[in-house]
Amino acid sequence: MITVENLSKSFAGRNGPVVALDGVNLEVPAGTVLGVVGPTGAGKSTLARCVALLERPDSGAIRVDGTDLVSLDGTALRAARRQIGVVPQGDSLLRQRTAAGNVALPLESAGVPGPQRRNRVAELLDLVGLTDKAGSYPDQLSGGQRQRIAVARALAAGPSVLLADEPTSTLDPDTTGSVLTVLDRARAELGITVLVVTHDMAVVRRICDDVAVLENGRVVEHGRVLDLVSDGTSRTASSLLPAVDQNPLAESRFDRVADIVLVGFAAVGALLPEATSRFGVELNLLGGGLTRLAETPVARFRVGLTGERSDSALEWISDAGASVQRTLKGPQGVAA
Ligand SMILES: Nc1ncnc2c1ncn2[C@@H]1O[C@H](COP(=O)(O)OP(=O)(O)OP(=O)(O)O)[C@@H](O)[C@H]1O
Ligand SMILES: [Mg+2]
Repeated sequence: MITVENLSKSFAGRNGPVVALDGVNLEVPAGTVLGVVGPTGAGKSTLARCVALLERPDSGAIRVDGTDLVSLDGTALRAARRQIGVVPQGDSLLRQRTAAGNVALPLESAGVPGPQRRNRVAELLDLVGLTDKAGSYPDQLSGGQRQRIAVARALAAGPSVLLADEPTSTLDPDTTGSVLTVLDRARAELGITVLVVTHDMAVVRRICDDVAVLENGRVVEHGRVLDLVSDGTSRTASSLLPAVDQNPLAESRFDRVADIVLVGFAAVGALLPEATSRFGVELNLLGGGLTRLAETPVARFRVGLTGERSDSALEWISDAGASVQRTLKGPQGVAA
């Protein structure tokens, strides 16, 4: 578990101090993946660098499994740093070392003996699916393969936390998938807590349990991805859910119009058909669609209902756990 408490950090700028982090509070439960997103200059990398102990905050605490890392120095600080694996932004492998040689580097620094080191490197290469590239040099690897080696290297010393700053920013969508799979395996198979900084919502969509949106050094939204999308008005919902377009003319034919967010197999598959048969209403899909967040199917539909019991049907859908975002037409058939 990582807890960030009231973390602040300013830098000296030309026109006075630049506030990079302004009282940031976050929690990352053990074994989960947190995505940190937000516009450029929001403070994402500064946050990651503070958590990695590469940057000292001006104030606040960073607790990993209860210990405040900010208060440590000397041997204790070095030991704490080993608990945190870092996948740096961009290409970070040593050119003159093979893939296996790069992964071995932290183990050599820690004085792990040869045979044990070779076993560990083999395990890590297997974890990232690159056993057959052990003897290849970085120039002989694709961008995605290099990033997977960088992840293996970050995991070498057996950290409990993995930090990755924009791990996919230079990759095309296909290659991005292979890197995300590796981060997801680190969490699933090693139980590691992952903090991933990204501007790419596809990263949040694919692997994040939680998301924190930073703006001007402050957290403006933080929570479980599935909770935030269920609230159709959140920033996370608007960037992850299928869009619905307004079409007042088409909508005017219905007794009620609403946006409905459905989360999970049962809800997506069954709720709307069941509502139509229970309440004898006609239900038309006017827009939106289906997507997937990690393994969970999620839908946002704009629906038009016709029938006397339309309000009851919407209420029942809401009671069944879906979020009925807004009723565009009120009880008298007037736009609300
Ligand atoms: N070493 C530094 N010296 C001075 N200012 C800095 C330094 N590092 C960051 N800043 C400033 O702090 C603010 C936050 O920077 P940071 O790099 O954390 O943003 P970011 O969210 O990672 O942005 P990006 O998406 O562009 O990577 C910016 O205004 C930046 O200019
Ligand atoms: Mg950055």
